[in-house]
Amino acid sequence: MSKSAEIVRARAGDEPVRLGLILGSGLGHLAGKVEGVAIPYTDLPGFPHVGVSGHNPNLVVGTLEGARVAVFGAREHYYENGRADAMRVPLECLKALGAEALIATNAAGSLRPDIRPGDLMLLSDHINFSGLNPLIGEKTDARFVPMTTAHDVGLREALRESAEAVGVALPTGVYAWYSGPSFETPAEIRAIKILGGDAVGMSTVPEVILARFLGLRVAAISTITNMAAGMSDEQISHEHTKAMAPLGAAKLERVLRHYLRGMA
Ligand code: HPA
Repeated sequence: MSKSAEIVRARAGDEPVRLGLILGSGLGHLAGKVEGVAIPYTDLPGFPHVGVSGHNPNLVVGTLEGARVAVFGAREHYYENGRADAMRVPLECLKALGAEALIATNAAGSLRPDIRPGDLMLLSDHINFSGLNPLIGEKTDARFVPMTTAHDVGLREALRESAEAVGVALPTGVYAWYSGPSFETPAEIRAIKILGGDAVGMSTVPEVILARFLGLRVAAISTITNMAAGMSDEQISHEHTKAMAPLGAAKLERVLRHYLRGMA
């Protein structure tokens, strides 16, 4: 068992976790709603030391809407230290805690005029626009992970049903991973559009690959904080992302709470 999972169990108890949740920029408040134990990443060997403002580097293990969850209040992005596999140890820990599934969330820019700031988007699929991969260097044949249905069909359907039940629009679309930390140019956004991207962001894809590698079912939801570069007159900035994320966060929380009630 992973060392970090042993520490988590010693502090938060042995009861298996059902689901992991990774919270994106500006979405960290949900971690505070879990009844459970918050463990700083700095106490967990191999966990990243996250330095992005708007993220809360704790793992919270406990109950939300009656379901036992592990909530990652922050992620390390590739652009922080050039490590595409920075979330490998946390996801191995999640697996060792007994989880079957992961829901990753993020803040993203929209390429679709019908998906606006404050809206949510469920990822139907993704494009690895960065060309990076968290499994480079992995030596076992398990590295050849099929990605045909990486975004789990059943999990997505359940999330769509939850969104409908709580009256939140949850359009689906393709997310393109851009390494960052600089934002995209308008020409890059036009290229992503031609390639079939509906939203763009700097995270999530490595975690989806790692989760599939580890045999976790996975789904991901974007909160749209801005229209992508060149699509509106708005200035794109990290400050703006953090300021806008709470708009979608309230909707996301309603969807996730309904989903968790159904799981419990
Ligand atoms: N591009 C990349 N990442 C983002 C964006 C964006 O427009 N908005 C929020 N995260």
